[in-house]
Amino acid sequence: MAKPILVANWKNHPKSLREAGIILKGLGRSAPLYKRLATFIAVPFPYLDLVLTKARRFASVASQNMAPVLQGTHTGVVTPDILKSFGTKLTILGHSELRALGETDAAVSEKVRMAIRSGILPLVCVGERAVEEDGSHFEFVRQQLKASLAGLRKADANRLMIAYEPIWAIGKHASDALKPENLSESIIFIRKVLVEIFGRTLAEKVPILYGGSVEPAGVEALWKVGKVQGFLVGHASLRPNDFKAIAQALLSK
Ligand code: PGA
Repeated sequence: MAKPILVANWKNHPKSLREAGIILKGLGRSAPLYKRLATFIAVPFPYLDLVLTKARRFASVASQNMAPVLQGTHTGVVTPDILKSFGTKLTILGHSELRALGETDAAVSEKVRMAIRSGILPLVCVGERAVEEDGSHFEFVRQQLKASLAGLRKADANRLMIAYEPIWAIGKHASDALKPENLSESIIFIRKVLVEIFGRTLAEKVPILYGGSVEPAGVEALWKVGKVQGFLVGHASLRPNDFKAIAQALLSK
């Protein structure tokens, strides 16, 4: 079986290189654990080099965004060729916090295609703002996913990961995370949409992660019941003990 996937999303929390270094040092104490997983640390661009030098023995470097252009005359963005020179293996794309600033599905899909073309694994985030009683949030997720993956070829299913992050569950506490049985329902739905896009065989290969208040409390049930291949962890990834406990849960199945 493929290794469970664990992605730390630091957002913009560490306020300095020094603070980032302290967190990495803490994470490094559990290096053997992270090596048993596919572990990625997604950081603001100025910290990429630090992750590359301090954490590469146990985790891969990841970014939280990427320009949809390859290289050259583009002021103010960071292109895939530069990201790759810092060892970046994965990029989070279409995170709800960027979508909230105006990023469209079309912009996300352009970046997804460019990431695949550049050999960087896109982790494409989708998720509804709120749960609707009539179930219409499922349709929202279907459309967002299809639009975010527009223009991909079938074979691209091998170079892609999805993160299901309901916006209402982000940045809270374990008790506010999605309930495990609701998670498995949503993941089955997302898998069905992937089948519509890629066909059954290839759709089965796309890892789907869950993100939204993943904390040590509750993570085991989400992992055992949720039908996900791993987690995208925000605030708990900044606390080495919490991140370690989440990693341990991923190895418990
Ligand atoms: P959270 O963030 O774990 O702090 O809820 C998850 C995310 O936004 O990726």
